[in-house]
Amino acid sequence: MTHPNLDNQSGTVAVLGLGPMGRALAAASLAAGHPTVLWNRSPAKATALVARGAILAPTVADAVDRASVVIACVINYEAVRAVLSGLERPPSGTFVNLSSGHAAEAREMAGWAAQRNVNYLDGAILTPAPTIGTPAATILYSGPRTLFDESLPRLESFGGSSAYLGADVGTAAAYEMALLDLFAMSVGGLAHAFALASTEGIAPTAFARFARGIGGLLPDMADRFADQLTSGAFAADISTIASAGSAIGHVRDAAAARGVDPTPLQAVQSIIERAIAAGHGGDSYARLAQSLVPADAVEAAR
Ligand SMILES: NC(=O)c1ccc[n+]([C@@H]2O[C@H](COP(=O)([O-])OP(=O)(O)OC[C@H]3O[C@@H](n4cnc5c(N)ncnc54)[C@H](OP(=O)(O)O)[C@@H]3O)[C@@H](O)[C@H]2O)c1
Repeated sequence: MTHPNLDNQSGTVAVLGLGPMGRALAAASLAAGHPTVLWNRSPAKATALVARGAILAPTVADAVDRASVVIACVINYEAVRAVLSGLERPPSGTFVNLSSGHAAEAREMAGWAAQRNVNYLDGAILTPAPTIGTPAATILYSGPRTLFDESLPRLESFGGSSAYLGADVGTAAAYEMALLDLFAMSVGGLAHAFALASTEGIAPTAFARFARGIGGLLPDMADRFADQLTSGAFAADISTIASAGSAIGHVRDAAAARGVDPTPLQAVQSIIERAIAAGHGGDSYARLAQSLVPADAVEAAR
């Protein structure tokens, strides 16, 4: 479905938002040879891209009216709404929102688009700005398949993998939130561990040598979690939840004794204790993921 009113410039990509990620997307679009028009609340951020051939639009409406694919990449959905509020008429080109947010926000934005006959795709960028335009980039998309297919020649300029996840427009954001959950907890764990090590006089470089090994366990654990959560069988071939509960108690005590905030450990400990109280102490760690969600969601997630 294409907006009937406008005669936009076929093949032109508009990038709204020129933070580090917006600039990387615009640079990749230019490098792929696509006419690229830019808009940012702070126009000075466009200077280097204009020197490479991009056009800086004086208004967001001017940028949007020139493009057949409009990419929004600002800090969050609230900022997207602020940017869109500067439009007298909605985008006629496919509107692709790559700003971070959660699934409900993506669905709400799709509702806004549907009311205005705007073609809307939602996306989530999983890799940092320097990967854009390289094989290492990963961007997830969800929304109408035909829109994804039509826009792919432009989206592919962002490099790496452009993965289509399905028609539910909230799916890309849902993946992003769960993956950010993993990232945030991992970064928190890393910071906490370096802090605890430092209180015992362990040098950061000496500690990093072994911390890398712990991180290296995660890929296989992710696969094991997936297998066990899918089958619903939680055989503890490697270690049990009860054993993890005991170990985390030692760490909490060590942190408290050294004046390192034990709160993050207490949060994990309470999750473990709940699973043990429910009779799952002899199960594998994957059972914890099930213990965290309401029972009816467990069946739905399989
Ligand atoms: N950077 C990364 O490596 C990375 C990786 C994955 C995903 N992402 C996602 O990509 C999006 C953009 O990230 P970023 O790193 O480029 O920068 P950011 O710091 O998240 O956002 C900066 C951009 O948002 C604009 N902005 C903020 N509030 C606004 C408002 N109220 N109205 C209009 N524009 C507003 C800024 O405009 P001004 O320049 O005028 O301030 C700027 O263009 C985010 O959602 C982020 O989560 C980024």
